[in-house]
Amino acid sequence: MYELCPETPNDTPEVEALMDLCFAPGRTALSSYRLRDGVPPVEALCLVLRDGSGVLLGAIRYWPVRVGDKPALLLGPVSVHPTTQGEGLGGLLMRESLGRARELGWARVMLVGDLPYYRRFGFSKLERVEMPPPTNPDRVLGLDLVDGAWLGVEGHVSRETGGDVAAGLAEIRRDPPESQTCVEMDGSAKR
Ligand SMILES: CC(C)(COP(=O)(O)OP(=O)(O)OC[C@H]1O[C@@H](n2cnc3c(N)ncnc32)[C@H](O)[C@@H]1OP(=O)(O)O)[C@@H](O)C(=O)NCCC(=O)NCCS
Repeated sequence: MYELCPETPNDTPEVEALMDLCFAPGRTALSSYRLRDGVPPVEALCLVLRDGSGVLLGAIRYWPVRVGDKPALLLGPVSVHPTTQGEGLGGLLMRESLGRARELGWARVMLVGDLPYYRRFGFSKLERVEMPPPTNPDRVLGLDLVDGAWLGVEGHVSRETGGDVAAGLAEIRRDPPESQTCVEMDGSAKR
């Protein structure tokens, strides 16, 4: 049995430790982190996955960004504890969070990562979307949460600087649906 919940401040030190374990040292020096500096994450989409004993198995986070003048979600980091990688938990975190993002009214999501992993969730290379350097353009990937949402969206990816980020994102529904809370899942949720 697994429990998937929005990350709370109590979870954060453990999530940071998991991410330090899963990524190379210096992960916060990556250019994608500059887009997160001083910007609150999208709380409803930052999820922690624990086993039935409460052991942290994985986590995923999202931040709001702008691409040109359009809002988008920046997915990442996503990490699964090395002892449970390859069991479908990464897929579970991806699918569940993307489903919640769609329910919340987000139209488009992007990330910087390996296409061979992310294409299974529908991601493809974004053309003419420029991350702050140094970023390999082949790793800049996007997914429509609403049909055609990336059509004509191009330009520099920049920090979401609005004082009230949610209020600035006209496309985004304000109140999370009731489903955006903790859910218990059994192994069949993994694919
Ligand atoms: C990437 C990660 C989140 C995937 O989680 P996971 O629980 O192992 O993933 P799943 O079990 O759902 O999927 C495993 C499949 O993904 C593949 N895969 C994992 N990482 C991959 C990568 N970087 N490129 C290509 N395929 C990858 C595995 O080979 C496996 O393939 P298979 O289904 O054909 O056997 C996890 O491996 C991880 O935390 N890695 C370290 C941190 C990281 O790189 N995060 C992503 C960058 S933001």
